[in-house]
Amino acid sequence: MKIELLSGACGAEISGVDLRDTSEANINSIKNLLYEHKVIFFRNQDITHQEQINFSECFGPIEKHAYVKGLPKYPEILRIVKEPYEKNNWGENWHSDVSYNEEPTLAVILKSVEIPPIGGDTMFSNMELAWETLDKKIKNKIIDKKAVHSSLGASFFVDNYKGMEAKEGKLDEYSNQHPIVRTHPETGKKILYVNWTYTKEIVGMDKEEGNDLLNQIFKHQERLEFTCRFKWTKNAVAIWDNRSVIHYAISDFFPKRGLGYRRIMDRIAVKGERPF
Ligand code: SIN
Repeated sequence: MKIELLSGACGAEISGVDLRDTSEANINSIKNLLYEHKVIFFRNQDITHQEQINFSECFGPIEKHAYVKGLPKYPEILRIVKEPYEKNNWGENWHSDVSYNEEPTLAVILKSVEIPPIGGDTMFSNMELAWETLDKKIKNKIIDKKAVHSSLGASFFVDNYKGMEAKEGKLDEYSNQHPIVRTHPETGKKILYVNWTYTKEIVGMDKEEGNDLLNQIFKHQERLEFTCRFKWTKNAVAIWDNRSVIHYAISDFFPKRGLGYRRIMDRIAVKGERPF
């Protein structure tokens, strides 16, 4: 096995590992790499849908998305499609997946199916590092506070994306409150757990003061020295610890700039625990 760091902050590309190997030894070593680097990448993993599901299940039960349909034969897999004529890309702002759920995603296993020849990278930012380096005065103000995370409703997820289909039924907005500073259940590390996309207010704080604080925190957590950036190739797999990083799918390949490309990713999410 070879491990190459993507940056000094987070992210490692791992080679010499076959994700079809679901033996305890292989999964344990992948989990340890994940806890250490927060997001890990594997290239040339030409695995089937079922193999991606089998591998993902080794991390815990699979979570279905509240609003978006999975593949007809493999509902566990949510196919992220950006057509060449579309401007937007799913996940194109800093966020932690479904942080508005009561038990937000533990990890995501994302496989590239079709990638643009230019652009379409994904960025990750290390939220343990963001917590460690946060201004002391801000730390004291938020250490015991909770924030409201809102789902923004189904339209946020499907209106701009022609290749993605909303589920039938109740698709309204909902929200949950989570500690702003959560603890990683495996490593015991403190994590800054808010994000620009879904975090809307600080519970029990004056709205203006809370918004001002949140804006300062958002600016801090996006600092480039906490990040790594992954350039996709076909059949690459990213696994991120969705508790420890926020991420950003860069939509720099849209028609207005003459770069209208299709981008397709197969996403499986593993159900997480209630943040504490
Ligand atoms: C996501 O935000 O869940 C998708 C990331 C990507 O497509 O790069």
